[in-house]
Amino acid sequence: MSDKPEKFIDENGLRLDGRKLDQIRDVNIEVGVLARADGSCYLEFGNNKVIAAVYGPREVHPRHQQESTRAIVRYKYNMASFSVEDRKRPGPDRRSTEISKVSREALEDQVFTEYFPKSAIDIFVEVLQADAGTRTAALNAASVALADAGIPMRGLVSACAFGKVDDTLVVDLNKDEDNYGQADVPIAMTPDGKITLLQMDGHLTPEELKTGLEMAQEGCRQVYEVQRQALMDHYAKMQGETAEETEAPSVEDVVSDEEKVASEDVSTVTEEVEEKVIGESVKEEPEVKEAIPIEEDEENEVDGETDEEPDVEEDDFHE
Ligand code: CDP
Repeated sequence: MSDKPEKFIDENGLRLDGRKLDQIRDVNIEVGVLARADGSCYLEFGNNKVIAAVYGPREVHPRHQQESTRAIVRYKYNMASFSVEDRKRPGPDRRSTEISKVSREALEDQVFTEYFPKSAIDIFVEVLQADAGTRTAALNAASVALADAGIPMRGLVSACAFGKVDDTLVVDLNKDEDNYGQADVPIAMTPDGKITLLQMDGHLTPEELKTGLEMAQEGCRQVYEVQRQALMDHYAKMQGETAEETEAPSVEDVVSDEEKVASEDVSTVTEEVEEKVIGESVKEEPEVKEAIPIEEDEENEVDGETDEEPDVEEDDFHE
């Protein structure tokens, strides 16, 4: 563990990592990274690296957890042994149990659970690299993965912390600020400003709490923009790919290609016939061309592709 820095904020009002007091770390999001999950997301929040996977709505096991009128939401936060400086003992501990509970509560109300009675929506988040703020990074990733899974939600949840170092409020604490600072307040909120997670470690005055919340709210708004953009980019890309894959050749393409082949065949046949058997008069004969079934092939190919497409998508959706 690094030693406590002498001061956290320099004479220019910048923090040790060069950020301004109200500046969050860079957020990068990649949507749909796991083929076997219904929804997934890889997210970097500064040096934090997390991956989230969502499965469901699906059958509840064990069955006694099933709710007759709504889906249950389960959330599992796990920190990899190699994610922190001193190797973390693998498996659940009190910290991960607490983070899983508060994170589930932060997301659950945003999901229209009443649409899926007797089912489960499972969220798993793995922290691959930790640098303070992993619960907020995990929540941001989980929220995007839920959207990627197509789970109907009232809105995305965006999270970011604020805290106090050198008697000054700062947003999105890094590792040293978290370890040696005076307060750490992770919060999560919806785009309309409803707070769904608020924890506090340390001491703050009511005024500091109020100001800090406003700073964190702005941080969450910035995170939300990145989440939204990542989802939009992902679906725009997917739509492009689907369109390319399913794009049937245009009738003109089919006709011109096949006509070309047909006319080549015909001219070869015609030339052979001309030379060997019949003589000059066959050269002008149109019936040879008409006998080649261009139209039939062309219809089968175009119809075959467009008919099959919606069936495949519907099956996938219901699975
Ligand atoms: O990660 P978050 O800020 O949500 O939770 P925390 O309990 O305040 O942990 C702060 C940081 O301490 C983590 O992000 C890790 O970088 C570090 N940590 C660690 O080094 N070893 C652990 N067993 C737990 C946390």
